Amino acid sequence: MANTQGFILWFTGLSGSGKSTLATYIAPILKQQGCKVEILDGDEVRENLSKGLGFSKEDRDTNIRRIGYVAGLLSRNGVVAITAAISPYKDVRNEIRAKTTNFVEVYAECPLDVLEDRDTKGLYKKAKAGIIKNFTGISDPYEAPEKADVVVKTHEESIEQSAKKILDYLKKRGLLA
Ligand code: ADX
Repeated sequence: MANTQGFILWFTGLSGSGKSTLATYIAPILKQQGCKVEILDGDEVRENLSKGLGFSKEDRDTNIRRIGYVAGLLSRNGVVAITAAISPYKDVRNEIRAKTTNFVEVYAECPLDVLEDRDTKGLYKKAKAGIIKNFTGISDPYEAPEKADVVVKTHEESIEQSAKKILDYLKKRGLLA
């Protein structure tokens, strides 16, 4: 039977921590189970819904509230909304949790030195050189969740292991058959 229960799978974590990778890995698995799924990816949202916003606290909060608003609309209509934005500030994440139902917070945890070494987009190097200002984790805060529903350690676990943790949690919470 199709899974008609909507929920928000909210990834948070530093740039390069694996949020988008996990979101794109998990989406087809959920679709196979009969879920309708939409991904709201940070980079993509900034090209569309949040075009023109920068990286000040105010702009980030606006970006995250917009993502939260859309995710709320989708989830209350039976869609699984997977979000993958850094979402560095705890208060705004909690605000969205309080305003929505079935909010699942997943912390993509990865040590900063690993991300700096990997530096897939070359942004950490630029941030450390001061070319990019206010870069999360280097020159801007990241408030890690204290009570995330799921913590995936992307530097230690395979993508399959991390995905299984998330899927197991969704089943335990009754959001997935
Ligand atoms: S958020 O803080 O508002 O949640 P979001 O996830 O949309 O951030 O965008 C983060 C992406 O923007 C990063 O993965 C990176 O590619 C890019 N980026 C550019 N400048 C910055 C910056 N100053 N801090 C963090 N990410 C940045």
